[in-house]
Amino acid sequence: MAVRVVLVTVVAVIVVATAGGRDGVASAAPVATQGSGTQPQQLHLALTNDLSQRTVSYVTLESTDRSVTTFGASPSQLTRRVNCTNRPFTDGGLTHRTIYLHECVLSNLDFATRYFYKVGDGDAVWSPVLNFTTWARDDPELTLAVYGDMGVINARSLKPLQQDLAEGGYDLILHVGDFAYNMDTDEGKRGDAFMNMIEPLAGHVPYMTCLGNHETAYNFSHYTERFAAIAQTTTSGNNWWFSWDVSVVHFVALSSEIYYNFYLYPYVKITEQLQWLERDLQRVDRSKTPFVVVYLHRPLYCSNTDDLPDCSLDTQHIREGFTHQGQFYPGLDAFMYKYNVNLVLVAHEHSYERTWPVYNSTVDPTQTNPHVYHNPQYPTHIVSGAGGCDEDLDYYDELHHGPWSLVRSASYGYGHLHIVNSTHLHWTQFLAEGRNGTDEFWCVS
Ligand SMILES: [Fe+2]
Repeated sequence: MAVRVVLVTVVAVIVVATAGGRDGVASAAPVATQGSGTQPQQLHLALTNDLSQRTVSYVTLESTDRSVTTFGASPSQLTRRVNCTNRPFTDGGLTHRTIYLHECVLSNLDFATRYFYKVGDGDAVWSPVLNFTTWARDDPELTLAVYGDMGVINARSLKPLQQDLAEGGYDLILHVGDFAYNMDTDEGKRGDAFMNMIEPLAGHVPYMTCLGNHETAYNFSHYTERFAAIAQTTTSGNNWWFSWDVSVVHFVALSSEIYYNFYLYPYVKITEQLQWLERDLQRVDRSKTPFVVVYLHRPLYCSNTDDLPDCSLDTQHIREGFTHQGQFYPGLDAFMYKYNVNLVLVAHEHSYERTWPVYNSTVDPTQTNPHVYHNPQYPTHIVSGAGGCDEDLDYYDELHHGPWSLVRSASYGYGHLHIVNSTHLHWTQFLAEGRNGTDEFWCVS
């Protein structure tokens, strides 16, 4: 595990007053959005496909003439300066509330270097100074924190994630859909509150995402716009399905929602995504990125029984495909198998589940060790959707699960995906309460 301790305590940003969201415990009401209209807030980082770059995004409540990031080797030496883009974003609610989204690309960063940065109008109004650390060029070791379904209320995993980050426990974050519950609530103020809540994380490590069903409002506009920076260099040209490489892993983000929200789109979106997916997976150079990890919000395999038909008809729909007006729309299971995807990371169910390597609902017959999958023929699916939200946990009926289901836990928590080297990935699921590991396994190829 790469050890890159983040100076979160030194540069913690207090842009908004909190009602509990910032410290990650349950709160009775959304975090209020305060501060002057041009004061930067909601700072968050993302990757591009150039590892010598990071994007910095932030929000102001009023427009500014200029948007600027200054950065450098120490808080007192922010000697480099980048001009950023900015644009209005109008919520789709009745009041058409508008905020301003600013995006900056920091380029030509040195490897294995800590950078300090602040954002503002280039004159009088600045954010506090935050910091991030770039990764070593030749060291494959990286750790991702992975979770889905985290809201402003009951964000149980936030505080342990902050503790992990302060200890250098991970290098980037994968939020597998469902943010804020919901970002459009209260004319988008809930979205602001969420983005401020995660700033102690996302202001220090790249915050990579995919969309979930809680982003549906106004054609997913809060997700599409607030996380636009993650798609700046993608081959898809959008942030609903896209891919990026880090270390020895090719990550692919997909939209599960186009399989379910037919009232929003023509079915052709499914075909568009699959055609892009197939092109993307065909281009993967496994000599450079021997592992392929796909992440999307809804599971192809899960066993929860409290939210029918989530883990029955719904999973079958996206796993196997369906026919509509004589046209067959393929599911994703066959693509995961055909292109030898190693891991499929999902959320949606507010719980944890790990499968055996599985395809076509059949367990890989070559695997017998529950803690070491050695050269599996099929992908392994992990549900880690218990980041914490006001819809609480989802549960299992232990009588009903397929033979492919290996570990199930209705507990708040998050995972660490540790990229060890070109042959070994390691997964650990942690409880939010106590940060104890509850499940772990190796994926070896
Ligand atoms: Fe969901």
